[in-house]
Amino acid sequence: MIKYITACVVAFFLFGNVSAQNKNEAVLQVKISTIIKKMTLEEKIAMLHGNALFSSAGVKRLGIPELTCDDGPLGVREEIKRFDWNSANWTTDSATFFPNGSAIAATWNPAMANEYGVVIGQEANARKKDVMLSPAFNICRTPLNGRTYEYYSEDPYLNGRLAVQAVKGIQSQDVAACIKHFAANNQEVNRNTINEEIDERALREIYLPAFKAAIQEGNAYTIMSAYNKVNGYWCSENDFLLNKVLKKEWGFKGAVISDWGGVHHTIEAANNGLDIEMGSSGPYDQWYFANPLLAAVKTGQVSEKTIDDKVRRILWVMYHTSMSEHHPEGSIATAAHGKAAYDIASESIVLLKNDAHLLPLKTNNIKSIAVIGDNAIRTFALGGYGAGVKAKYEVTALAGIRSRFGQTADIKFAQGYKANYLASRADEQNAGYDQSNDTLIAEAVAIAKKSDIAILCIGSNREYESEGHDRKTLALPFGEQALVNAVTAVNPNTIIVIMAGAPYDLNEIKKSNHTIVWSWFNGSEAGNALADVLKGVINPSGKMPFTFPVSLHDSPAFALNSYPGKDLNTTYKEGILVGYRWYDTKNIEPLYCFGYGLSYTNFGYTGLSTDKKNYQLNDKIAVTVKVKNTGSLAGKEVVQLYIKKVNSSILRADKELKAFKKVAIVPGKTAVVSMNVKVNDLAYFDDKLNKWVVEPGEYKIMAASSSKDIRKVTSFYIH
Ligand code: BGC
Repeated sequence: MIKYITACVVAFFLFGNVSAQNKNEAVLQVKISTIIKKMTLEEKIAMLHGNALFSSAGVKRLGIPELTCDDGPLGVREEIKRFDWNSANWTTDSATFFPNGSAIAATWNPAMANEYGVVIGQEANARKKDVMLSPAFNICRTPLNGRTYEYYSEDPYLNGRLAVQAVKGIQSQDVAACIKHFAANNQEVNRNTINEEIDERALREIYLPAFKAAIQEGNAYTIMSAYNKVNGYWCSENDFLLNKVLKKEWGFKGAVISDWGGVHHTIEAANNGLDIEMGSSGPYDQWYFANPLLAAVKTGQVSEKTIDDKVRRILWVMYHTSMSEHHPEGSIATAAHGKAAYDIASESIVLLKNDAHLLPLKTNNIKSIAVIGDNAIRTFALGGYGAGVKAKYEVTALAGIRSRFGQTADIKFAQGYKANYLASRADEQNAGYDQSNDTLIAEAVAIAKKSDIAILCIGSNREYESEGHDRKTLALPFGEQALVNAVTAVNPNTIIVIMAGAPYDLNEIKKSNHTIVWSWFNGSEAGNALADVLKGVINPSGKMPFTFPVSLHDSPAFALNSYPGKDLNTTYKEGILVGYRWYDTKNIEPLYCFGYGLSYTNFGYTGLSTDKKNYQLNDKIAVTVKVKNTGSLAGKEVVQLYIKKVNSSILRADKELKAFKKVAIVPGKTAVVSMNVKVNDLAYFDDKLNKWVVEPGEYKIMAASSSKDIRKVTSFYIH
């Protein structure tokens, strides 16, 4: 108590004239300084590196616990052994499996990201984990990236809005979010060795904004440095990224944690901003941040002040997590958690095509349903290394369809194709994975012929899309097209359901099929959410968080031959023109554009207006648009605002997303949708002046239902 009062008095004199929150912060910093003074150098160093697979040491004699962490983005990973990756065989660690990152992004609903975060935080607490290695939101630069499904989007603004809320949700439970991977871990091919040359404008405008938002608005307590190099330096020892931008410019107070085994040097990493080294195997005292760091301090190559700063950051994280007052108990895989997974899944499903108005299904007329495809019975919780979840339960598509339609229709199942691909196998061992299987197709055709409708569940799975490798092509795997053709030929009421986490080549399906639904690796409640969409209990409201190109060669990194790089180097030649910014600026028609997704109802847009015509820097542009539900079913629309600089003096994307809002509207009603855009958010990064610049002049503002479906346009001026 006396110590606490002393700390308060010291803090008062030091920081007398500041807000209550700042005072608390000041008191905390004084407290932390007091602890650091009591620590030996060896004790400090022990806190800076792993002492097991998912923890780093505390200081027992001072009451400082270990810092514990766990993956990951799709749910709290099962307990593994302390020193190897095998299961610890607990019976109490079955968790809620959440829709994957791109599914969360497809909701275009930050409240869903928040709900996800809150549950992840609660489940982390039930498992006594201080840091969740989540959310992951690297930009989808190439559609082939094996981790596209873990990440959110190709757009930095959408990424940022979701990341901020996921972080806030997790941290509302006194668990640290570890946002990852900082920065530009955009390909799995050579991820441990690749050097990415990215110009500063592209870094600032595309690859960094969501991290900045998650730090400055979300107050993320920790961040994971990526495996790759950016502009010649490993991300774990990148002075520009870690010291200059993250810690100095953005004011990050927490700890930088390396990706597992992503450290390469002691002195460079220590001086250039890394705080904790993590990795996969011992001997832990030989790691860069163990004995070698101790030696470097003793020889003066790393100062003790630098070490103290790292310890201070870790203790700061601990005071907000394991050492927080009234730390929540947590809970795991409760019914409420399952409901959260359902809510997210139900808002993430994207209706790609409904030309025959087959959906929602008119159950009265349907007496028999053929459910076809390996994905109808496959679970998606496990796989993908850090993204695997031991799910308490997972409702498959077939189970969901049975539960929603089984009372009124006879449901038959056929596997249709063999999913012959394992992420752990070499390429040669996976040879032939793209072949169809005639026997399975014949079985599928036989049940499809005799059924009122056929629901074909295809796509990829958690082996085919995975950390550790990129896909080689956009083609659907497992000979699925042959199955689609055969089933469609015998049943005119075929619904294609695609379960995957990244763009695929759907050219043929788009041409030949009238009904296409995109589901994802959609979590514990996936099958129920899907069946409810098919039945019309849920009106689909998901929108694509990335572009589907017509051909791989249309996409920027391929068109410019800058993926996966040569001699372990890749130059991001497309600069700021990533995703729709590229397609729109270059007039390349995509297969499905960014922000695309249909509904069972229609929305009409009128009355787009801004509060003024002329604005100054530091102003806010208040935008209003009226959106009417002109159909006969209640639904949700994602109203998207894009901005374009007219006659820009420098290269700008044809349009950039600057705001969006998801609104629920009942039939016949009109919602007045208001959104704000800060004039400063219209800036581009001028890499010659090394600062953000808002160009004066005319801007167009577009209210849109997707990046290609612009409904209303108006303009304003910046002076
Ligand atoms: C991944 C990280 C993950 C870590 C620990 C790495 O291979 O890149 O995202 O958190 O492993 O599992």
